[in-house]
Formats: sequence, structure tokens, C-alpha cells
Amino acid sequence: MANLSYEKDQQAPGTANISVLNCIDLSSPDIQSSVSLLKQACLDSGFFYVINHGIDKKFMDEVFSQSKKFFSLPMEEKMKLLRNEKNRGYTPVFDEHLDPVNQIHGDYKEGYYIGIEVSEDDSDSQKPFYGPNMWPCADILPTWRETMEKYHQEALEVARKVSRLIALALELNFDYFDHPEMLGKPIATLRLLHYEDRTSDPDKGIFGAGAHSDFGLITLLATDDSIGLQICKDRDAKPQIWEYVPPLKGAFIVNLGDMLERWSNGIFRSTLHRVLGKGQERYSIAYFVEPNHDCIVECLPTCQSEKNPPKFPPIKCQDYMLQRYKDTHADLNSYK
Ligand code: OGA
Ligand code: NI
Repeated sequence: MANLSYEKDQQAPGTANISVLNCIDLSSPDIQSSVSLLKQACLDSGFFYVINHGIDKKFMDEVFSQSKKFFSLPMEEKMKLLRNEKNRGYTPVFDEHLDPVNQIHGDYKEGYYIGIEVSEDDSDSQKPFYGPNMWPCADILPTWRETMEKYHQEALEVARKVSRLIALALELNFDYFDHPEMLGKPIATLRLLHYEDRTSDPDKGIFGAGAHSDFGLITLLATDDSIGLQICKDRDAKPQIWEYVPPLKGAFIVNLGDMLERWSNGIFRSTLHRVLGKGQERYSIAYFVEPNHDCIVECLPTCQSEKNPPKFPPIKCQDYMLQRYKDTHADLNSYK
């Protein structure tokens, strides 16, 4: 058993705080107020809701329904699509282990990674996060691939819209993140998630998903209506205070990743979050957005001064991502 050194959860059950997050309306013509709401959220918690994002509600329901169909397949079928070295495909329960210090096992969730589709004969398929996706057989899950590909494209457009507000909030040109070295040719990964119906027990180190911050620029999270996601605004507080982020119908929960924290010199927050199981199954869909493989993530000109020099050394996107995946996922050899 792992050496447990977690803090005892000080909050009695049922008394946990509920977080009140700002809500950004992507259809609002008042860009200035959207930027100001978003900036406040990025400085405070790095989490906000996005509504009127343009993805049709019925289509969203269809993506959840297809996700459930996949996870309901027999284990043998799912294991045929086990994640490959490009991080595409199925991740069984415990494959991801986000917080080894506080968790006795990996996360009580299974997942499915879908990246940007790049065919084998395209030279870009040499890049570590580009390549063909793994797809369930169309005889078993007809229209599954089409649904996921459409969602992937639509979510990327939402991410680009959010990134323009972020650029303005950082006093950059609105299209700063649209450039080819950024989201012009991004790493962007759709991840279907299914949490087991197990009840988490922080004191015993059992979590749906262990405490972590996301790796990239932003994550768009869609969830079903079961509560479970928690954030901790101050990772150094003792004891840590965890607040629930309730699902909001039709909205994305958006959170900032570690690359944005680095770009912004720590001004914008990549907040620690985790998922507690409540004894019922839970489905969510994460969409992780990172820039181009070769992008050098370093302190933005608008976020540094003589008095406030860069706090983080520059990193290359693909190297950073490879390391973060390695640190959080099981060794593929362990499945042999
Ligand atoms: C993640 C994550 C939260 C959720 O996958 O990085 O934080 O509600 N997911 O599934
Ligand atoms: Ni996360």
C-alpha cells in the first residue's frame, strides 16, 4: 500500500461549501463585460461557466448517450481499444493516478481519449500527440465516430472563442492564441469519462479523480447532473478547503491549465480540483486544449516587469505534455 500522508478532511459531510462561479455568455455583444467577468474568475479561482456557447443541447445529449453506450460494452470489447502510445483510446479504471500522495489506488474512472485525427501518411503523424484515433467498430457502435468527430470540432471552436476573451483579459491582441504556433494547429483532446458508482472517502485515499490541475491552456468540461467536482483555491492552506462546483445545465465548466498559469506568470490560476464519488455513476466529458506541439510556453510580455520577473522557465509544449502524461498514467507494459 502506498504511503499515505494526506491531510484529514476537516469538513463534516454535508457541510462542504458550494462555489459560486462567474458565468460568461459567449453570445453577449458586450465584450468588455465578458472580459471583465472572465478576468475576475481567472484571478480568483481559474474556474468559470460558459453559456450560449453554440453547441446544440440535443447534440450534447447525443454525445453523452454515445459515451454511455461505449462504456456499457463488455470489458473485452473495450480492452481491444486500449490506449496506445499516442494516448488515443480506452483507459480502464485506475489507469490514471492523479494524486499518488493522497490516493491509495488510481482514479475510479474509465475514459476514452480522442485527439486530432491525423492519418499515418501525413508527416505530422510523427508528432507525439498526433496520429489516427482508435474507433470502436461501426457494426457495434454506428455513428459513434461521426458524433465524436463533430463534437471535437465544435468544442475547438468554443475553446477558440474563450481564448480570445482570455487574450483580451491579458491585454494581448484578441487573436493572440489563434496563431499557428498556438491554437492554429493545437493539441486538443476529447476525453469521455465514466465514474464508477463508488463512494469516495478522502480519509482513506479513495477518489473518483485525485487532486490535480490540468496541463494546458484551458479545459472545457461538460458533466451530467450529478455533483462531484470540487476545487481548492489555495493549495497551500492547511487544512485545504474544498468547494463543490455544481453542474449548470447547458453550460461548460471551464478551467485554466498550468500552461496558462506559466504564460501569465502566475497571475491567472490553474486551480487544484478533484472528483468525489457519491455512490452513483457519473459521466463527464473533458476537452483539453493545448497549443502547437512546438510552442514555447514562456512568460507573456504583458505579465512581467522589472519588479515582477518571469517565475517559470520556458517549456516546449510537447515535452511538458509527455512528462505530465507519463507522471499520471499507468505504464502500458503493465497491461501485457
Ligand atoms: C479531468 C477532470 C473532472 C470531471 O479530467 O481533468 O478534472 O468532472 N475531470 O470529470
Ligand atoms: Ni482536471
